[in-house]
Amino acid sequence: MTVTIIVKDKQGQDVTSFAAQSDVSLSSQANMNGGDIFVACCTGACLVCGCTIVSGEEHVDKEKFGSQLAMLEANQVCSCIAWIYDESNESTEEKTVILQKIM
Ligand code: FES
Repeated sequence: MTVTIIVKDKQGQDVTSFAAQSDVSLSSQANMNGGDIFVACCTGACLVCGCTIVSGEEHVDKEKFGSQLAMLEANQVCSCIAWIYDESNESTEEKTVILQKIM
């Protein structure tokens, strides 16, 4: 894995970091690694799982598992329907994606 995901809480404190998986939503990956990103609808509609992408936005496929229906800023993502692009994770170059929880 070449993408490291860092999850921050709403106040900007680091909660966890882990190597990204290619086939799992960002919220599921975070929750498997102690990130505590709450989910509700898991369809991109409610924004409970919303995160600001502090850096590494180019590595995030925001609509892998559905369409974002919630109103978001350009650098925000519903983490329940997003994951890391395969191309980013398969590269030999080390990359980092930083997510900050909205709620
Ligand atoms: S859990 Fe509702 S948008 Fe992700």
